[in-house]
Amino acid sequence: MNRFESKVAVVTGAASGIGQATAARLRSEGATVVGIDRAPVDNVDMAIHLDLLDLAAIGPAVAQAAEAHGRIDVLCNIAGLGHFARDEDETVEAWNRVLGVNLTGTYFMSQACLPYLLESRGNIVNTASTAGTNAQPWSSAYSASKGGVIALTQTMAITNGRSGIRVNCIAPGGVDTPIGEQFTPPEGVDLAIMSRILPFERSANPSELAAAFAFLASDDASYCNGITIRVDGGMQA
Ligand SMILES: NC(=O)c1ccc[n+]([C@@H]2O[C@H](COP(=O)([O-])OP(=O)(O)OC[C@H]3O[C@@H](n4cnc5c(N)ncnc54)[C@H](O)[C@@H]3O)[C@@H](O)[C@H]2O)c1
Repeated sequence: MNRFESKVAVVTGAASGIGQATAARLRSEGATVVGIDRAPVDNVDMAIHLDLLDLAAIGPAVAQAAEAHGRIDVLCNIAGLGHFARDEDETVEAWNRVLGVNLTGTYFMSQACLPYLLESRGNIVNTASTAGTNAQPWSSAYSASKGGVIALTQTMAITNGRSGIRVNCIAPGGVDTPIGEQFTPPEGVDLAIMSRILPFERSANPSELAAAFAFLASDDASYCNGITIRVDGGMQA
C-alpha cells in the first residue's frame, strides 16, 4: 500500500512504542515523517526535539516541520505519560504533568498544525486509552486526560469538519511498550478492581496499533470523523 505517497505526517511520541511503530508504518506506505519527542527519534525523515510541556516551543517546532517539507497532511498525537496514584496521595505537580502532556500537548499540537491541515485538507489522529472509555482504577489524572482527548476529538471534528479536516482517535488497551513501567499500582490495591484493566488473552504489539493509526490517517477512513476506535483485543467488549 502507498496510501501516504507525497504526504507529510507529523508523529509525536515517535521515539518509542506506538509512536515509533506508527512512524515506521506511515513511512512504509510512502509518507515523509517528522518525528517529535523529548527523547531522541531514529528512523524518520526529520526528528525534532520537543518537550510538550513547553507550550511556547510547539508552534516553532511545527513551523520548522512545515517549512522543511512544504506541507503537513497528517498529525498523529501519540506522545503520552502513564500514571497511577491513590486519590488521597495525588499531587498537583503530577496531575498537571499528566494532563499537560496527554491533553494540553495534544490540543496545542493540533492548534499549531491546523493552518497547514486546512491547506492540505488533512487529518488528526489522537491517542486516548481504554482508561478514557471505561473506568481505570487509581488513575484519575490519566483517565481524565484520556477522556478529555475523546471529547477534544469530537469537538474538533465537528468544529473543523466543514473545512475538510477529519479528527479521530485510537483508544489502545494493553500494548507492550515501555509506558508499562509508569503504571505501577499503589501498594495494597484491591486486585479484584485491578482485574478490570487486564488485557483479554494478550497485550498488543505496537505494530497492531500502528495499523489502526494508518487506517484513520488514510483516505480509507474518509467517512470517519470524530470517532474513537478501541483497539484493545476485546478487553472492553
Ligand atoms: N502501551 C499501552 O498499553 C497504552 C494503552 C493505552 C494508551 N496508550 C497511549 O499510547 C500513547 C503512546 O504510548 P506508548 O505505549 O507508546 O508509550 P511509550 O512510553 O513507549 O511512548 C511514549 C512516548 O511519548 C514521549 N513523551 C512523553 N512525554 C513527553 C513530553 N513531555 N514531550 C514529548 N514527548 C513525550 C516519550 O518520550 C515516548 O517516546 C500514549 O499516549 C499512551 O497514553 C498506551
